[in-house]
Amino acid sequence: MAPHAATRPRLTIEDARRLAFDRFGLETSETAELPSERDQNFLLRTPRGPLVLELAGPTESDAVKDLENRALAWIAERAPELPVPQLLGQSPDGRARLLSYLPGTVLAEARPRSPALFGRVGELLGRLDTALSGFRHAAAVGRDFAWDPARAAEVVDRHRAAIAGPARHELVSRFQALYTSEVVPLLPGLPRSVFHNDANDYNLLVGPPTGAAEDRAITGLLDFGDMVESWTVCELAVALAYGIFGQAEPLAVARRLVAGYHAARPLSEPELDAVWILAAMRLCTSVALSAHRRTAEPDNPYLLVSEDSAWEALGRMAEIHPRFARAVLRHACGFPPCPQTPALERWLRSRRGEFAPLVDVDLSRAVVFDLSVGSPEFRTPAETLDTAAMTPRLFSKMREAGTNVGIGRYDEARLVYGGDAFASASSGGEHPERRTIHIALDVFMEPGSAVYAPLAGRVHAVHDNAARFDYGPTVILEHAPEGAPRFYTLYGHLAPDCLNELARGAEVARGQRIGAIGAPPGNGDWPPHVHFQIVTDMLDRGGEFHGVGSASERATWLSLSPDPGLLLGVDPARSGFRAPAETSERLSEERRRRLGPSLSLSYRRPLEIVRGAGTHLYDEAGREFLDMVNNVAHVGHAHPRVVAAGARQMTVLNTNTRYLHPSILRYAERLAATLPEPLSVCFFVCSGSEANELALRMARAHTGRRGVIVLGGAYHGNTQGLIDVSPYKVDRRGGTRPEYVRVVPMPDDYRGLYRREDPARADKFAAHVGEAARGGDIAAFLCESLLSCGGQIVLPPGYLSAAYLHARAAGAVCIADEVQVGFGRVGSHFWGFQTQGADAVPDIVTMGKPIGNGHPLAAVVTTPAIAASFAGGMEYFNTFGGNPVSCEIGLAVLDVIRDEGLQARALAVGSFLRSGLERLVERHEAAGDARGLGLFLGLELVESKGSRAPSAARASYVVERMKDHGILLSTDGPDRNVIKMKPPLSFGEGDAARVLASFERVLSEDFLRS
Ligand SMILES: Cc1ncc(COP(=O)(O)O)c(C=O)c1O
Repeated sequence: MAPHAATRPRLTIEDARRLAFDRFGLETSETAELPSERDQNFLLRTPRGPLVLELAGPTESDAVKDLENRALAWIAERAPELPVPQLLGQSPDGRARLLSYLPGTVLAEARPRSPALFGRVGELLGRLDTALSGFRHAAAVGRDFAWDPARAAEVVDRHRAAIAGPARHELVSRFQALYTSEVVPLLPGLPRSVFHNDANDYNLLVGPPTGAAEDRAITGLLDFGDMVESWTVCELAVALAYGIFGQAEPLAVARRLVAGYHAARPLSEPELDAVWILAAMRLCTSVALSAHRRTAEPDNPYLLVSEDSAWEALGRMAEIHPRFARAVLRHACGFPPCPQTPALERWLRSRRGEFAPLVDVDLSRAVVFDLSVGSPEFRTPAETLDTAAMTPRLFSKMREAGTNVGIGRYDEARLVYGGDAFASASSGGEHPERRTIHIALDVFMEPGSAVYAPLAGRVHAVHDNAARFDYGPTVILEHAPEGAPRFYTLYGHLAPDCLNELARGAEVARGQRIGAIGAPPGNGDWPPHVHFQIVTDMLDRGGEFHGVGSASERATWLSLSPDPGLLLGVDPARSGFRAPAETSERLSEERRRRLGPSLSLSYRRPLEIVRGAGTHLYDEAGREFLDMVNNVAHVGHAHPRVVAAGARQMTVLNTNTRYLHPSILRYAERLAATLPEPLSVCFFVCSGSEANELALRMARAHTGRRGVIVLGGAYHGNTQGLIDVSPYKVDRRGGTRPEYVRVVPMPDDYRGLYRREDPARADKFAAHVGEAARGGDIAAFLCESLLSCGGQIVLPPGYLSAAYLHARAAGAVCIADEVQVGFGRVGSHFWGFQTQGADAVPDIVTMGKPIGNGHPLAAVVTTPAIAASFAGGMEYFNTFGGNPVSCEIGLAVLDVIRDEGLQARALAVGSFLRSGLERLVERHEAAGDARGLGLFLGLELVESKGSRAPSAARASYVVERMKDHGILLSTDGPDRNVIKMKPPLSFGEGDAARVLASFERVLSEDFLRS
């Protein structure tokens, strides 16, 4: 709302200070003016703590002041815990008041203004309205002001002439018409009470930001000057109207707000039916008044800004059908989203067996296809759109099953649907989402197969949906059977003849042929089938209706389109998919029971991931995530060439290395060719841990010693022997480091012993290796070529060669752990150690993670001399290591890195991303350091740039918030404050730009600035 600048009192700070002393006997150490709309408010610092002195504006009547004062006293008595101002004193005329001070930031300035925060607003308002029930005051009845909800229609009418432009007129008229037709009839039945009536973002205060955005508290509700007696639900409608300002997805806010309110003051169904349109009417009142005021004050820029936000909010509300919004809000309060759906479902169940068949084949003989996100029926999400590939696959499956009919399931999350991504309601618009939930049943049959009406109806629409919804020719019938709510049946992907054969409005008999299954591409271009859907509410659409809903509004879509199996006599166990919300919960429970508790999950709310493709992962509902952390899927998740290589070899032979086989030799040759001489002898194992274990055994065999020098913060594997040499684990809870392990300082030149500004830092860090070796009995210096668990650290230039010199001088073998960083990730070179100069050549290299793109393959490559020392004792045997399947997969990974130019891509995209990260560091106090090579990068989160004090809480906040944006990251480093980035190398510049944009937004949020 706009300030009534002309009508506010005008006291100076000195006047206020004097008034506080004269009236209330208060000594003030400091006095400051607070922003206020109609009154004038001062913050007083007093020996009693901070207090607010409020001076009523001349437009405020004594009666209204009395209304406010009595309401505050009423609340203080009945709900003293509510964060509203307490009246501590007043002047005899009631126009100067002393109020308690409520700490906090105005909600309008909170970042993020998350939907969860609005859940708390709703709860506060619900509690407030519960406390106020029974409160009465003469001044609250029939107040003569524009914000009385009962006067909304009249106010809008009076000022609509000031609204510029036909589009805006039309928008306001639309909501006025809806108000008249949908809300006015409900008004007599709505509960009434006196309520606050102005819970806008500037009257609500939030507490300090918390590590989890959704945990932030609402600490205050101010300004009771607009209180009125009217329909109580308008309290919520006002908060909703202002809550959606600047929100990409109004329903996300609305749903949380309404649910929060309902939990504290249960809403009736008529209240829920009215609230969305009442909110829109509040915005209409606001824009009409602003337009009117603007004619009076054309130069006031504030008016224009607030008016624009209100228009934008109204425009967004208009994009949502009000009955869809109503359904979402009903669901948020535990009511069936569509009120008529339960009755329809009961009716369909009671008539089971009475409907005519949809097609000429008995559907109980149908083969049920799995077209879900995680289905193995297709190799990549893109393939599901490839009709030429999908058609023969589905039809041959039907033939194999000895049938000529197949079913595609209802309530199944699919990746079939392209279309533009839209803002997701569940994430408050931050995570782009596509429609994924199939809300119909597909019946696959040969093109030309007849399709019949299961029950009598009237043609609602015959329409070619090819352009917009991809259903091709579609028929929609309307049914109004006795004893059931009116509903519709939709038949999509038909042959085009139906377009001429059926006319809108024509009666259709039970069992009448309404068309035939169409053939691609004329059927909307998907394998031949009829998409059969029940629709309980067409939402005023003609011949088109969504056949697929969004995962974030799943329940609403399923209520709009209940299970067609009920009408077709298909058992829900066959027709329907599982309910994912239940499933994720069940998986968590099952996991707790069946797996060891030391196995951890990522994120506060864990993800159920069922598919990967390239740089993306997909959850069970088809939500797409950008994978920034999985360096194992080196060439991209489920890379078709790698998958094919494994499958091909698996169909022929998989056995151990005790027979001659060419694959292992071809692979050994290819691997050795990537390394400098004399690194040429390969050993194949199944994990990075096995590789490091073997490397240590070799070093010990070669040197006859036991000791190992490792870096602080390092992790080298999960066996007992490697935990002992991994300070990352052994130096923490539950570990005891053996005395043969020597730990040298991590060469972290951002926060370590020697810093970047010291040109001799590499030598100084390396000198610690020499010092550690002086104790004697050192078999190996084991070191990653860039530090991963250590916190994405790039070794200072020259460190490795200097450290290797020290180690070798003490007779130790140098092992480069390339498990994380090898295979071209660093961009400029194939191996991490090569970035340290030509003289940094290790004696043993260990490899893992990316080597098999997810297949359990790992390797050790060493010199002929060390291999010979190791051969001096017992035989080395590894059941799975080096089997033909693993080797073919390893070869395919090398081929893809070469053929797709992934090393060069890592260099180019990595440089782009790194420069962007460096810019973030320049702009954001919490971003202490950006570093890395190629696509192995880290962003270090700190308390402040000056202190460089690590902030794990900030890092984990950023990781959780980036997940809300659909980007998966994780933290590492000894202080868990480094965000690690090591995506599959298929990661592109567009992906990098998206990540940077999200970082920019998240780093600007309050928790990172507090
Ligand atoms: C640097 C390094 N070496 C070795 C390993 C052990 O590999 P794996 O988990 O395959 O046994 C890891 C695993 O995270 C690692 O990061």
